[in-house]
Amino acid sequence: MLNLILFGPPGAGKGTQAEYLIEKFGLIHLSTGDLLRSEIAAGTPLGLEAKKNMDKGELVPDEVVIGMIKNKLDANKQVKGFIFDGFPRTVEQAGALDKLLEENGTPVSGMLSLEVEKKELIARLLSRGKTSGRSDDQDESIIENRIQVYNEKTSPLKRYYTAQKKHFCINGMGSVEDIASRLETTVGKL
Ligand code: AP5
Ligand code: MG
Repeated sequence: MLNLILFGPPGAGKGTQAEYLIEKFGLIHLSTGDLLRSEIAAGTPLGLEAKKNMDKGELVPDEVVIGMIKNKLDANKQVKGFIFDGFPRTVEQAGALDKLLEENGTPVSGMLSLEVEKKELIARLLSRGKTSGRSDDQDESIIENRIQVYNEKTSPLKRYYTAQKKHFCINGMGSVEDIASRLETTVGKL
């Protein structure tokens, strides 16, 4: 199985590039952000609770997102692999993912980290905010907070996967197609 983690700060292009990778390698896309937004849209208690954190650009509690991923892994056996987008985001989540995948006998293949300048991240998110309806894209101070939360809580995961020799840096600046081809080359070597 091919289990890829698509990693990077808000606006790095995780969702955009995941679309290319699922097509190319026949993987199941698991985006915790998308799953949470579906819960909000459905008005579930989980969604309503998560929305409070998401609107501020803060993380949703680990146990909530770990539970969602566990459900999805259990519901998708016998597949070619997964692309994890926006998960894991804390060391605790990374440990939980290792454990869940171990139970299925299929480890993380690689963590692909999209590197994008902060100015570009803010420009992309503000631009998307005009049409996305995402409350966390509307306000530059919330976007700044999302980036800060990434730097403090999520970026340390690069060390976690470097220690496992699974961390790969990808230049996330430039055209969507060029970035997709960089990712494809790296995945081809895994
Ligand atoms: P989540 O939905 O994961 O959002 P995010 O990580 O903040 O990042 P985005 O989805 O905004 O960006 P992206 O990297 O996917 O980029 P995209 O391809 O969309 O999380 C939202 C919230 O949910 C979190 O803040 C948290 O509260 C909660 N949450 C989610 N997961 C969690 C977890 N595991 N633990 C705890 N809480 C969690 O691109 C962005 C824009 O740029 C688009 O408009 C796109 O068209 C454009 N674009 C993409 N590539 C390019 C390019 N090469 N050039 C120009 N524009 C481009
Ligand atoms: Mg996304």
